[in-house]
Amino acid sequence: DVECYVPESNEFQELLQSLPFERGAMCNPIHLYKGIWYRAHSLEAAMAFQRHFQARDTDIILATAPKSGTTWLKSLVFAVTHRSQYPVTDQNHPLLTTNPHGVVPFLELIYRNNKNPDLTSTPPPRIYSTHVPYTMLPESVQTSKCQIIYLCRNPKDIFVSMWHFGNMLLKDIPSSQPITIEESFERFCKGITMFGPCWEQALEYWKKSIEKPEEILFLKYEDLKANINSQLKRIAKHLGCPFSSEEENEGVIEDIANLCSFKHLSNLEVNKTGKLFFFQVVENNVFFSKGEVGDWINILTPSMVEKLDQVVEHKLNGSGLTL
Ligand code: A3P
Repeated sequence: DVECYVPESNEFQELLQSLPFERGAMCNPIHLYKGIWYRAHSLEAAMAFQRHFQARDTDIILATAPKSGTTWLKSLVFAVTHRSQYPVTDQNHPLLTTNPHGVVPFLELIYRNNKNPDLTSTPPPRIYSTHVPYTMLPESVQTSKCQIIYLCRNPKDIFVSMWHFGNMLLKDIPSSQPITIEESFERFCKGITMFGPCWEQALEYWKKSIEKPEEILFLKYEDLKANINSQLKRIAKHLGCPFSSEEENEGVIEDIANLCSFKHLSNLEVNKTGKLFFFQVVENNVFFSKGEVGDWINILTPSMVEKLDQVVEHKLNGSGLTL
C-alpha cells in the first residue's frame, strides 16, 4: 500500500507524488501513469523492467490483464514449449508439482525484488509474463523478434473474477471489510483498477497484433474455452514449434489440454494447499475459482451489465475487436 510503500529512489517518490491517486476496484491505492492505473510497487518494477530488461529473439512474453486467464495461459505455453524436455504425460512434469506462476514468473515481480536482475543464465526459451500495456514494454521487446502472446477476456467476467479475488485476499487481513460489489463496480467501469482499464490494454495489443502478426498472437479466453485444441495449435505454430502429425495422432494436443485444464490443475495438491509470493504471500487456490465463461450473469444486475457494455463498446467502436 502507498501508506507503507517506500520507493527505492527519490526520483520515483517524486513521480509518485505527482500522479493522480485513487482507491481501485480492489480497494488498493493505485496511481495513474500514462493512462494506466498501477500499484506503486508495480509501477516502480515496471519502470525498472522497461529500463533494464534486454529481450532476446527467443523470448516469449505472455501479456494479460489481471484475472483474464494468466494462470491458464502460463501452463499452456510452458507445456507446449517444453514438451520435448518434459513429455506431457510424464509423472515428473513440473506442472504437477509447481503452480503455473512458479514456472513462468511475472517480470513485475522479478524487478520488484531486484531492479537490475541478471537473467542471462536462463536457458531459451525464456518465458515471462506481464500485465503492463504494450507501450510500457521495453524497447528491446518491441524491436526484437521475441514472441508476445496476449490473452484477453470479457470485461464482465474479469470484473467478477477480480471482485471475488479481492475479497479472498482480504479474508487474510484482520479487521478488513469486504469490498461491496457496487463500490468495486463503479471504479471498474471508470477503468480505475490495477493495470486498467483492461479494455484499453486489450485494444492496444489488438492493434499491435494486426500491425505485427508475426510477433504478437492475440487470444481470447472464450476461444480457449470453446476449442482448446485449435487454440493450442495456433499457440504452437506461432511459437515456431507446431505439432507434427505424429504428435497429433498420438494425442499430444489433448494431453496438454487435459494437463492444463481447470479441473486437473485446480485439483493438484500443490494448487489446493501450496502458497506462493505474489505481491503478498497467497494461497495457490486463489488462482482457481470457477474457470467459466459468463459467470457474470449470476452476479451483475441488468443495469450493471448495460453500463459496462456501454463503456466497453464505446471504447472499441470501429476497432474490429469485441470483448
Ligand atoms: P474465475 O474467477 O472466473 O473463475 P488469472 O490467472 O489472470 O488471475 O485469471 C484467473 C481466472 O482464470 C479465474 O477465473 C480462474 O478460475 C481462471 N482459471 C485459472 N486456471 C484456469 C484453467 N486452467 N482453465 C480455465 N480457467 C482458469
